[in-house]
Amino acid sequence: MVELLHADDPEMVDGPVGPRQVARLAAAMTDAITGWLGATPWFPVPSAGLVGPAVRSFLRVYPQRPIADNASGSRFNTCGWLFVLTRLLGPHLIVESGTHRGQSAWLFRQAAPDARIATFDITHDALAHRTDDIDYRLGDWNDGDLPPVNAEGTIGFFDDHVDQAARVREAWARGFRWLIFDDNLPSHLLFLTGRPPAPTISMLYETTWRDGERMTWSRHGRLRTIDMDQAKCERARALIADWSIVPDLGAVTGYRRQTGLTVVQLVDRDRQRDGLA
Ligand SMILES: C[S@@+](CC[C@H](N)C(=O)[O-])C[C@H]1O[C@@H](n2cnc3c(N)ncnc32)[C@H](O)[C@@H]1O
Repeated sequence: MVELLHADDPEMVDGPVGPRQVARLAAAMTDAITGWLGATPWFPVPSAGLVGPAVRSFLRVYPQRPIADNASGSRFNTCGWLFVLTRLLGPHLIVESGTHRGQSAWLFRQAAPDARIATFDITHDALAHRTDDIDYRLGDWNDGDLPPVNAEGTIGFFDDHVDQAARVREAWARGFRWLIFDDNLPSHLLFLTGRPPAPTISMLYETTWRDGERMTWSRHGRLRTIDMDQAKCERARALIADWSIVPDLGAVTGYRRQTGLTVVQLVDRDRQRDGLA
């Protein structure tokens, strides 16, 4: 199902058109992504020369998206990162938690034509697009079997507003190495989304909260709280080797900013089990 265009949203109707204008946008996105890669040496890049072609592929593919206005899901800037990160990691298997309308699952298929893709959601009420060879699962990923996970060749994408500390532990137990999270907000910004996935990755590394502290914020005038559990946060933190928030591309694309993505590399499960990590 294709949604109506929103005339007030530049992403829907406006953008570079001429080939040289599009090439300039591609170059600006490539520079931004290459800058992040340069500052993130632990992220495996087979060749820096892959970024430009991946960005140009994304710019060709994105206009064909099935959902014109994926409000509350991944939009231009987030999709750009998801596409390029996927191309760089070259996964055999992608597991998504948080299908919603189906846009990000569709994007993964464009970025990784040969990968197996499973996408989970607790409801399919919003599902508006199905791609033939994607496995759409109803329910939490903890209740579903997965194809065999190859740590280096599998991406877990968590865009489900569920506790990220729990997702780290679950993904590590299932053999994942590479995770991408949406909505990794620091504790003072939890009010920005309806159901923040707290404790978020950022919160695991904050040093200002105490064990048992009740954090309180308001969302649309209603009070929300979370009680911090230090032992739980430490257990998740011990499984994270590296993490980084990618810079939102809004500054270079002009399209609406979102809360941004976070890339996480988990510790090697075998080394951890052997007490070497
Ligand atoms: C922000 S939307 C996902 C957007 C989608 N990834 C995209 O970019 O097009 C969040 C989705 O997470 C789903 N969700 C909530 N709890 C979940 C759970 N335990 N497991 C999987 N999905 C869940 C919601 O139903 C909602 O559809």
